[in-house]
Amino acid sequence: MARLDVTEMFQDISFPGHLHTQDSLQQAVEFNFQDTDILIASYPKSGTTWMQEIVTLVYSRGDPHLSQTVPNWTRAPWLEQYYCTAVLEASSAVPRLLTTHLPYRLLRTAIQDSKAKVIYVSRNPKDVMVSFYHFHKMANFLPDIGSFPEFLDRFLEGKLHFGSWFEHIIGWTQTAAVSNLLHVTYEEMLLDPQGAIKKISLFLQCPLAEDEINNCVKHCSFSSMKDNKMINYTLVPQEIMDHSKGSFMRKGEIGDWKNMFTEEQRRRFDSVFSSKMQQCSLQFVWEKP
Ligand code: A3P
Repeated sequence: MARLDVTEMFQDISFPGHLHTQDSLQQAVEFNFQDTDILIASYPKSGTTWMQEIVTLVYSRGDPHLSQTVPNWTRAPWLEQYYCTAVLEASSAVPRLLTTHLPYRLLRTAIQDSKAKVIYVSRNPKDVMVSFYHFHKMANFLPDIGSFPEFLDRFLEGKLHFGSWFEHIIGWTQTAAVSNLLHVTYEEMLLDPQGAIKKISLFLQCPLAEDEINNCVKHCSFSSMKDNKMINYTLVPQEIMDHSKGSFMRKGEIGDWKNMFTEEQRRRFDSVFSSKMQQCSLQFVWEKP
């Protein structure tokens, strides 16, 4: 069998070659956004799949039929992955729901003058890193991870696939990046799902009644999503994602990094974070109160 873990380099960022080609990445950079489009933007492992589910449920007013019958990569294809064009051509859905892990600098030209709505999802980068580390063990299309300390070095240097977490969040959340952007954190979705879903539904101009919000909350809970084949990636062949080595819906918690980091690693991470995020004015709530 051909190797799955090939790398595609594009504008100094590495991507899994299993899903990305030079053509697909170039097409994403030149994507023709429609004003009605909804784009979910995130660094991997920040709660992307969760947001795809929430937006699907909001537009279905809490009815889970669509999210239980159509895989998330068809409902909300990743712009930069090779199959995106074909999925969009086969669909007549309005609004179109799109997903991207690309940093803002690669999509700036395509999106900055558009009225498309962007939902940016972020998560404590220590939890992102730990989740990504475990994901590398089961995803055979990702390169060998090495040890946890090596993985941490590569995360801090921005050398993993999809580039730097720091560049990603700074780029997408800087003032005036896009006119129509809502920033939602993984932590607020976990700590206050009702509030987060209400905020997202208002942003999408699809206000929901209380029972509809409660249905969304129910169907996008960790346990519901873990059992949903359209989301948990068990439809993907074993040789691509090896579910004997882990689950995509792994833990779904805040603060799992504490089980992995030594005190010295935490200090080093925090020091790199402070220096790289100096000009960023975002206030983060990453811990349970
Ligand atoms: P963990 O590996 O920490 O469990 P992405 O979709 O961006 O790749 O993110 C995947 C991460 O989001 C995984 O984190 C996954 O378990 C978590 N996740 C997905 N749906 C969730 C939900 N409904 N509640 C909590 N966490 C969820």
